[in-house]
Amino acid sequence: MLANRQILLIVSGSISAYKALELTRLLRKAGAIVTGVLTAGGARFVTREALAGITGQRVHDDLWAAEAEIGHIRLARLPDAVVVVPASADLLARMAHGLADDLASTILLATRAPVLVAPAMNPAMWEHAATRANMAALRARGVTVIGPGVGAMAEAESGAGRLAEPDDIFAAVAGLLAPSARPLVGRHALVTSGPTHEPIDPVRYIANRSSGKQGHAIATALAALGARVTLVCGPVAVPDPPGVTVHRIESAREMLAACEAALPADIAVMAAAVADWRVAREATQKLKKEPGAAAPTLTMALNPDILATLSHHAQRPGLVIGFAAETERVVEHATAKRLRKGCDWIVANDVSGDVMGGDANRVHVITANGVEDWPEMPKDAVAGRLAARIAEALR
Ligand code: C5P
Repeated sequence: MLANRQILLIVSGSISAYKALELTRLLRKAGAIVTGVLTAGGARFVTREALAGITGQRVHDDLWAAEAEIGHIRLARLPDAVVVVPASADLLARMAHGLADDLASTILLATRAPVLVAPAMNPAMWEHAATRANMAALRARGVTVIGPGVGAMAEAESGAGRLAEPDDIFAAVAGLLAPSARPLVGRHALVTSGPTHEPIDPVRYIANRSSGKQGHAIATALAALGARVTLVCGPVAVPDPPGVTVHRIESAREMLAACEAALPADIAVMAAAVADWRVAREATQKLKKEPGAAAPTLTMALNPDILATLSHHAQRPGLVIGFAAETERVVEHATAKRLRKGCDWIVANDVSGDVMGGDANRVHVITANGVEDWPEMPKDAVAGRLAARIAEALR
């Protein structure tokens, strides 16, 4: 599995950096080609010579020197995987914020290869809200995280922060590069996310509540499994998932047009909160509030149902998945919805709590074979499990 695979190993500053040498030995024994990159902090714990000796390759540690020799973009494009061992709190923070102020961070921003990080730091730093937010951002972008473990630390403190063992990191790298890790390579997935805005006049609109968090997480998770993903999304504040083609639309009719234009697709996941109705005649000028005049009456028209349209489309995707936000009798209503819409699965969630805009979700997956009740978990975990379930169904 690892024979002749190119691994870019970034070593950042931590007392545990010596374990990166042991990891390199394991990777090379399995036939991988390892190229080392040292950060300034990493170079305080592992010498350039030691890393060059054990990788059998020249070590890169200077953005500008690398630029002259090979170019940071080539260095970023070359590897099959980028592995950060150990990953310091500082480097993780710079990754989370997209900084590119040294060679390592620039490669991490430019690469399209899967990225694995093995954090190592003092337990107080690992538990800090800033690190937690950074880790959540990285996980949501599809970065694989191994460790840290709990155990004896250099500072004789206890808690989590200890670098994962080289054997475990090796297994995680092998897992990242296994063909089974990217089972959706060659598949096209169409995902909708966010609300639609239905104009009343040039300044006012009708919308549904939707943050886009769940839909965007699904697009990220499908891309992480190797799918080519087209995301059609309404107005949202969440950032575009990396490596995904994003079409931004406003209204339901624009969303339908963008979805039809994206066909053919193997998978359609309709996670958008589409407005059921629009204003029948959008005013071309702002409606004026005249003193003493009655409030205007809006006449509504039915919007196209994108999920139902794709479910009955001449180019129907092989697997069509809808969402159902319900406030009561969740499974019963969602089961009826699956049949009514003509889709294959419905992911039903109970929105009577604070699911809207929140980070956790509890869903039921309704298929022709019955109902699966999933426990409450973060939205990106729901996305990961759904993507894995999709891959299994398409196998
Ligand atoms: O009918 P309801 O809005 O509850 O159905 C929810 C599912 O249908 C979601 O998957 C949503 O994206 C999709 N939908 C749609 N077009 C609409 C309304 C809902 O695709 N006009």
